[in-house]
Amino acid sequence: MGEHTSRSLSKANFDDIYDRADPRAYFCELAALDYEVPRHGQQVFRGVLDTLAARDPTVVDLCCSYGINAALLGHDLELSDLYDRYCGEQTTGLSRDELVAADRAFYAARRCPDAPTVIGVDVASQAVDYALDVGLLDTGAAEDLEQHDPSPELAREVARADLITVTGGIGYITERTFERVLDCTSPDRRPWVAGLCLRTVPYTPIAAALARKGLVTERLEGRTFPQRRFADQQERDYALRTLVTRGIDPQGKESEGAYHVEVYLSRPAVAVAQQPINAMFADLL
Ligand SMILES: C[S@@+](CC[C@H](N)C(=O)[O-])C[C@H]1O[C@@H](n2cnc3c(N)ncnc32)[C@H](O)[C@@H]1O
Repeated sequence: MGEHTSRSLSKANFDDIYDRADPRAYFCELAALDYEVPRHGQQVFRGVLDTLAARDPTVVDLCCSYGINAALLGHDLELSDLYDRYCGEQTTGLSRDELVAADRAFYAARRCPDAPTVIGVDVASQAVDYALDVGLLDTGAAEDLEQHDPSPELAREVARADLITVTGGIGYITERTFERVLDCTSPDRRPWVAGLCLRTVPYTPIAAALARKGLVTERLEGRTFPQRRFADQQERDYALRTLVTRGIDPQGKESEGAYHVEVYLSRPAVAVAQQPINAMFADLL
């Protein structure tokens, strides 16, 4: 699952940092566990956007939180810069208003000329508000597409998506969210979908839902990326047990102490035939 839902399943629960007024607690708590999946998302999504070659692309980032993927996609920044900023002296002691003002300038000064338009969706309304206030998201929606159809405003925005992205969120969101997003798009102009998904969580239902919308899903073969270290022994036991149940060998990956993700990319068949995912990311293998 993206990050976790239930302590009874022996998985760490980070709900209390998902919806704060600003991202400082989120970064500081996850830094302690070497949370790194957004940095892998950054290189994957940049590679996908290069291949997609859409003019002024629009990205819909699901489980967008405080706009982290938007920050890394559209700005001259690394994830380590965000950890330094939000866990260090630069921002300690600032009020929310002071931080928003400082962050607006910080991101504006680092914005790439080819930054995509980003529409963010997350149930955490304060996180979405923060990302909007600092200018990371062009549109933000605090909506739960697991439970409800998108609002008419969100449906209108999502209709122009070129790429749908997600890091750290699959498991919280399932094929239901993807179906509802794809339902807003036209069969002759489907967006591509790029997701980084924990190996403890099956992607098959999402791939099946996307196939019903005409998209072919590939998995990057031969490469996984760490998401973060296990919070404790209980969580490690849980993850290793889950992998065994799924028939996945954790040796050399989760057995070393961290969750790993796989990269999935869904596109129309013609695009897959032109350049399969492993050719697209040959430099990552
Ligand atoms: C681990 S965070 C990932 C955030 C960000 N993508 C990243 O990689 O840092 C998981 C996010 O999923 C969000 N989330 C949980 N359930 C959701 C749902 N049903 N729809 C949208 N977002 C959800 C949480 O609020 C949280 O922001």
